[in-house]
Amino acid sequence: MAVDMSRLQRTVLDDAIRRAQIIQQSGAKQAAAEAWDHAARHAENFAALASTEAEKARRRATADELRMLAKKQEQQLRPAAPQSTAGGCSAEEADEFREAACRLVHKSGIRFEDIAGLKETTTEIQAAFALSLAKAPAGVDIPQMHSLLFYGPPGCGKTLLAAAVSNGLDATFFSVKVSDLLSRYFGDSPKMVQALYDEARSRGNSVIFLDEFDALATSRSGSDSSADRRLLVSLLTELDGLKEKDGGAQVLTIAATNRPWDLDDAILSRFEKTVYIPLPDAEARRRMLELHLNEKGYRVEISDEELIRQTNGLSGREISHLCKLMIKQMMQEANPNLAALAGKGRAAMESYSIRVEPLTLQHLQHARTQIQPRTTPEAIELFRRWANDGCS
Ligand SMILES: Nc1ncnc2c1ncn2[C@@H]1O[C@H](COP(=O)(O)OP(=O)(O)OP(=O)(O)O)[C@@H](O)[C@H]1O
Ligand SMILES: [Mg+2]
Repeated sequence: MAVDMSRLQRTVLDDAIRRAQIIQQSGAKQAAAEAWDHAARHAENFAALASTEAEKARRRATADELRMLAKKQEQQLRPAAPQSTAGGCSAEEADEFREAACRLVHKSGIRFEDIAGLKETTTEIQAAFALSLAKAPAGVDIPQMHSLLFYGPPGCGKTLLAAAVSNGLDATFFSVKVSDLLSRYFGDSPKMVQALYDEARSRGNSVIFLDEFDALATSRSGSDSSADRRLLVSLLTELDGLKEKDGGAQVLTIAATNRPWDLDDAILSRFEKTVYIPLPDAEARRRMLELHLNEKGYRVEISDEELIRQTNGLSGREISHLCKLMIKQMMQEANPNLAALAGKGRAAMESYSIRVEPLTLQHLQHARTQIQPRTTPEAIELFRRWANDGCS
C-alpha cells in the first residue's frame, strides 16, 4: 500500500506541536524549549517533502516560527522571568484574552420549538443531555457528550440548533467564527482558545460554538501556515482534554461547517457525533412558513400543497427571505400611499393605520421568482456521498 509521506509527516508535526504546547502550559520552560525545537525539526522534514518551492518556503517559515518559540522559552529561563500564567503569557495579557473571550458570549432566546424539522436530531440531542445532567445511580458512569459537529448546506439551521441546545441546557453560549479567530488574533489565536475554554469552564455550564470550522481545513487547501496549524492544535488539545479538565463543569463544543470534506480525519475523529442538517423536508417547510407568516399575525390563503411545492429545494434562510418578500409585496399593494406619507412628516405617519391583507398564491409566486436556491442537487449529492463514506 502506498504511504503518503507528506500526510504522515504532517501528523507527526501536529503531534510534536501539541506536545510542545502542553509542556509549555505546564510551565516547564527547558522541556518546552526542547519540545519546540523538536517540532521545528519535524517542520523542516515536512518542508523537504513539499512539491513546490512556494510550499517549501511556507513550511520553512513554520519551522522558523517554531524555532523562535523555542528561543523564547530559553530566554525566559535566564533572567528572572516575568510572572507568567499557565498559557505562557503575562497576567496582563491573560486578562485581555479573558475579556475578549467574555465578549464572545451571545444571548439568544432560540428554543427547540422555534426550529422547524430536525425532530430526530433534536430529540436525540435532548435525550443525550438529559442523561448527562440527570442523577446517575451510585457507581454508574454515564457517558457525557462533549463535542458535536453539525454539517450541511448553508442556511438550514446549524447556528439555530446550536443556540437552542445552549438555551436548553441553560448554558452560556460562546459563539466564535474560526476565521475571525485567525484574522484577529493570528499567532495569538492559541492563547485566545485557551482563554475561551478557561472562561467556559469557569462559568460551569457552557456551549462553545465554533462556526465556519472549515476555516481550519488543512486536508485540501494546502494551507500550512503556522498560525492555522497552532490554532488547530490548540483546539484539538482542548477537545481531547475536555473530558478530564471540566471537573464537573459541562462544556460542550459544537462546530459547524458547510464543507465537511475539507476536514481531515485527525479533526473529524475528535467529535463524538457528526450530525447532518439537511435542506428542510416538506413538513419542515410547512412549519417554517407557519413560523414566519401565521405566527407573526398574517393570514395565508394558499394551499399547503402549493406552499410545499413552491418552496422545494429552498433552505430555511431562503424561505425566511421568501416570506419577507411576500409580506413586502402585500404591504405595498394594501398601502399604496405609504411612501407619499413619509413626505408628510412624522405626525402623518403615526396617525396612519396599516392595512394588512391575506397573503395569496400570487404573492408567493412573485416572491419565488426573486429567489435562486443556493443549494444545487449536485451539492446535496456531495453531502450524501460524504456521509456514506463513513464519516459518522
Ligand atoms: N430549521 C429551521 N427552522 C426555522 N428557521 C430556520 C431553520 N433553518 C434556517 N432557518 C432560518 O434561516 C436562518 C439561518 O439559519 P442558520 O443561521 O441556523 O443557518 P446555518 O445552517 O447556520 O447557515 P450557515 O451554514 O450559512 O451558517 C435562521 O435565522 C432562520 O430564520
Ligand atoms: Mg451558521
